[in-house]
Parts: sequence; C-alpha cells; structure tokens
Amino acid sequence: MIIAIDGPAASGKGTLGKRLAHHYGYRHLDTGVIYRAVAKALLDDGVDLTDEARAVAAALELDPEKFGHPELKTQRIGDAASVVSAIASVREALVSFQRQFAAGPPGAVLDGRDIGTVICPNADVKIFVVADPLVRARRRTLEARARGEAADEAAVLADILRRDERDRNRVAAPLKAAADAHVLDNSNLDIEAGVRAAIAIVEAARSRRA
Ligand code: DC
Repeated sequence: MIIAIDGPAASGKGTLGKRLAHHYGYRHLDTGVIYRAVAKALLDDGVDLTDEARAVAAALELDPEKFGHPELKTQRIGDAASVVSAIASVREALVSFQRQFAAGPPGAVLDGRDIGTVICPNADVKIFVVADPLVRARRRTLEARARGEAADEAAVLADILRRDERDRNRVAAPLKAAADAHVLDNSNLDIEAGVRAAIAIVEAARSRRA
C-alpha cells in the first residue's frame, strides 16, 4: 500500500507521514529532504541555485545517507530548496528514486508537494494536509526555538507565505490537491488528533477496497 501525503510548508505533513508509517509498519520518505539536500549541495559548493546543469547533477548524485544532516532543517536551506524544486529537470531527475522507494515492500508513506499528483498518482490513499498560515508560522517558530535557533514569528510567517506562493504558482508540479485526495485541516488539531484523523482516512480507504 502507498500513502501519499501532500501539503504546504510546515503543515505538519512530515510528522503525520512519520507517524502513519510507524503505525502501519511502512517505510517513510520525507521528499522535501531530497530537494533540501540538492539545495545544500549547491550552497556548499557556492553554486548559483538557478544553475540548472549543476542542480541536475547534484540531484543525480544524491546520497540518502546524508538525509539526516541537521542543517537540512534550517529555514535557509528550505528557502533554497523551494528555488531548486521549481526547476523541471531537477524534479525529473528525482522521480525514479521516489517511485522506487514507493514501490518497495511492505508499503510506503511519502510526503511532499506532488506525491498524489505526479510521483504516485495511483497511490492507495492520498491526504492533502492544510493549516492556517498563522498556525504554521507559530509551530515552525516553536520548533526552531526548540532546536536552539533564533526565530522571529513574523519573519517565519513571511517565509511561509513566500514559499506557498512559489510552490503553488510554479509551472513544474505545482502544489495542489489531487482530485481524489482527502483534505485534512489540522489548524485546530494537536499532533495526536491529526494522526487519529489521518488513520481514520486510511482505514476508510482500506475498507472501501476490501
Ligand atoms: O516540505 P519541505 O519544507 O521540506 O520542502 C522544501 C521545499 O522543497 C519546498 O519549498 C518545496 C519543495 N518540495 C517539492 O517541490 N516537492 C516535494 N515533493 C517536496 C518538497
């Protein structure tokens, strides 16, 4: 079974993905990390983020062993990832890695922006997570502070709105809910309630298939 979770920055889709994968004993891929790793490779080498040839090369050379690097979580890398992820050829270079991950046993949860629309259009369950931008900014600020980073909530909100705009309006695989996705608004749900709501969506889909 493949579960696709999409949604905007800081919507909580990553945590949901991880928790759902744990619940079902599936593997989990946070696909934002892939774009973040490409962005980090370019920044580390002092390469312009819009250098298409270098960005594609970085995408093809990705090392999943490095996906846990703590710097990948920072706002600087997230913003850079939003830029490189708008390059269609970079996205194409990353498709087969994601599809192979999705297809492996015993099942997989992938979260991102285009999992239900482009990467796994035949996913068994698609969830599109949304939350009020103010709520997302608050959560992301608290997370950054918990990591010991200074974070100004107004600046975080501005970053989230800028990123939403870029992710939604790009030509290549824009952020949008698949026609058959279940929308989960977690603005007023804590993590546990969000996980319960997501499990309920998966269970309903499973019983329809059975
Ligand atoms: O979810 P995130 O903040 O880690 O994602 C970082 C950037 O990567 C985000 O601005 C958009 C991009 N992204 C994407 O285009 N497609 C995905 N499947 C995942 C992330």
